[in-house]
Amino acid sequence: MNVADSEVVAAILEEAGYRPAKDIHHADLIFVNTCSIRENAEQRVWGRLDLFRSEKRRRKNVTIGVLGCMAERLKEDLLESDRLVDMVVGPDAYRELPKLISSVDTGHKAVNVLLSREETYADITPVRLESNRVSAFISIMRGCNNMCAYCVVPYTRGAERSRDPETIVSEARDIFDKGYREVTLLGQNVDSYRYFEEGHGNSSPVMFHHLLEMVAGIDPRLRVRFSTSHPKDLSDEVLYAMARHENICRHIHLPVQSGSSTVLERMNRKYDREWYLDRITAIKRIIPGCAVSTDIIAGFCGETEEEHSDTLSLMRETGFDFAYMFKYSERPGTKAARHLKDDVPEKIKTRRLNEIIALQNLLSSESKKDDIGKVFEVLVEGRAKKAIAGKEAASIMASGSDSGNNIIPTMMGRTSGNKVVVFRSKDAQPGDYVNVKITSATSATLTGNTMSDPVTGRG
Ligand code: 5AD
Ligand code: SF4
Repeated sequence: MNVADSEVVAAILEEAGYRPAKDIHHADLIFVNTCSIRENAEQRVWGRLDLFRSEKRRRKNVTIGVLGCMAERLKEDLLESDRLVDMVVGPDAYRELPKLISSVDTGHKAVNVLLSREETYADITPVRLESNRVSAFISIMRGCNNMCAYCVVPYTRGAERSRDPETIVSEARDIFDKGYREVTLLGQNVDSYRYFEEGHGNSSPVMFHHLLEMVAGIDPRLRVRFSTSHPKDLSDEVLYAMARHENICRHIHLPVQSGSSTVLERMNRKYDREWYLDRITAIKRIIPGCAVSTDIIAGFCGETEEEHSDTLSLMRETGFDFAYMFKYSERPGTKAARHLKDDVPEKIKTRRLNEIIALQNLLSSESKKDDIGKVFEVLVEGRAKKAIAGKEAASIMASGSDSGNNIIPTMMGRTSGNKVVVFRSKDAQPGDYVNVKITSATSATLTGNTMSDPVTGRG
């Protein structure tokens, strides 16, 4: 989400005449787009600010700005003089950046942390930063109304609002025309996307499943992903829309947070274990083979050993393909910080997190092992970071897809289920679709042989 926001910031600055600098030593403006979700995210920003400060000591005219959630959370505190920060700009104030920069130029510190009920940056065409030219993020909504007890997002990003679907579809079409082949529709809770057309009186709103079909309808060669779904709102309509369109990727990121109904209640997640498992059953029924990933928090307030083992058993029962796993980190001002005790000792949190990670590694390996021998359509993203070597390369050569020529590049791409696949190919280009037969797997990556000539995705 911050990548998408930085692309909006880049567009606003470009419009105002600024250009990206070669490196930090050539920059007049240095911005850091920040995250407050856990304490260690903020710690990393403080580390980065130290670096900027030493730059500013060498070059007095440099302007340093803190953008995003930390700006919103800490506000003027960030401007304390020893920090050498000049600007503090919250996530809904980026249109003001050119004005705020001018005010810094006249010797003032600048702050705008107003949250908005309307701002979606709908009319701004993001400038794609560090893009692979194949996949892009499109923000479809901002903010969150959910108030999960542990979460700072509703305070830093404000109330939920949905972006005009026409602008989303035209942004997706535009990047497809530029050669991109995958869009990820982004929101804190995409299933509650709801847009009321202006001037249509009481007509029914555009819902997320409508939007998905509108974007999927642009071209069958455009893959559509989305993140993040909330278990309480993931509707069968969304699942049926996915089933109808092969280019809506077979992957749902469905954060469970905990497998214990009592913890979920304390977290204010508004669903219980049974509801979550019912959603998983619906996914498997309506979209057979659909991959499911999740987020899990270890050691939330009051979590008992039994509640923790409920998380492990839910993980086994669901068989997640992938998970992001975190230790609970108390965030000031949240419901949990105000009303619950962060009482699971650090050592126990760490042990529980390690158990969760170990189990997930096992599940990820199992899910990848099941893929050996299957053929997947892979959207090529580019060169793999590491070449295929050793036993794997030997097995590819033995299988006849490589005549022993070592200069055949190792490429990487993803399956519809979001699994990373590496394979060797002379011809495959970023943006192409290739069929790859899987020959081996680790917990993170699949390796295989191409089955056919690449189908060019470049229109
Ligand atoms: N502590 C730990 N993890 C958190 N998350 C959100 N807030 C916290 C917190 N205070 C995790 C949740 C969420 C993901 C984006 O970050 O799992 O789904
Ligand atoms: Fe935070 Fe819950 Fe909103 Fe996700 S749904 S952003 S966890 S409040």
